[in-house]
Amino acid sequence: MKKLFAVLGDPIGHSMSPVMHNDLFSFYNIDAYYLPFKVKSENLQDAVKGLKAIGAGGFNVTVPHKSKIIPFLDEVDELAASIGAVNTVVNDDGKLIGYNTDGPGFLSGLHTSFPSIDGKRVLIIGAGGAARAIYFTLAKERPAVIDITNRTLEKAQSLIEACPYTISSAAKSIAEAGKQIEEYDLIIQTTMVGMSPRLDEKPLDLNNLRKESMVCDIIYNPLTTQFLHVANGHGARTQNGIEMFVYQGALAFEKWTGILPDIQRMRENVLKQLGGKTC
Ligand code: ATR
Repeated sequence: MKKLFAVLGDPIGHSMSPVMHNDLFSFYNIDAYYLPFKVKSENLQDAVKGLKAIGAGGFNVTVPHKSKIIPFLDEVDELAASIGAVNTVVNDDGKLIGYNTDGPGFLSGLHTSFPSIDGKRVLIIGAGGAARAIYFTLAKERPAVIDITNRTLEKAQSLIEACPYTISSAAKSIAEAGKQIEEYDLIIQTTMVGMSPRLDEKPLDLNNLRKESMVCDIIYNPLTTQFLHVANGHGARTQNGIEMFVYQGALAFEKWTGILPDIQRMRENVLKQLGGKTC
């Protein structure tokens, strides 16, 4: 019988995950399908119980349910528990186990053009859920420093205090981080600033950027934010949010099926979907 996989969120209509995973199921001859479900927060527990009862193989969880889902699962892995957010659930013989593939997805994507952050100086812009997943994941990779800058400085400080891993970190104001930008080897933009339709906005001044630095933006709509455009103008290497999106999906697919899927195929599929959606 066909196995059901799903994504739960609200809103969910924009999700590119169904097309991406259904393509992989058919490519690898797996008798399964993947459906989006719009679930209100007050119905989340019932939705999870329902998916368990009907024997769904697993599911993704997206905004606004990534933290709220945790009490409804049977087990949560260590990284997801420390981040306090789950985006992937595996149904292991009736036991629902939660994982977070957002941070590891970012790291795998980064590795395609930045092989190691060991000893590197890293700046994360933003202190929300995405920043938290990336920060806690990178903190385990032995960088020299991970500083956090955020519009609301106290949130950057709280994020640093919440990190369970040993890491040298300071909270910086946006102005201070901008002035010191040449100190960083890797700069990661995790806020919504510059996302369509606010195309002209930039989160930080890059005037002092070194061309040896790498700049990532987790936004993929547009594919090149103003922030990445300016970084490119300084000769820096850049990466947009496609890699993180594709790899978080690939790591989820691997947890469900044991197959690490063809990344290039996923990338092309997502770019094709975005073709009709960007800007
Ligand atoms: P996500 O889960 O996508 O990270 P989030 O948890 O709501 O979303 O976090 C949003 C992040 O974007 C925060 O760092 C937020 O800054 P504040 O903590 O100051 O709110 C940042 N952000 C959102 N809109 C912003 C804006 N217009 N300018 C600067 N930062 C912004």
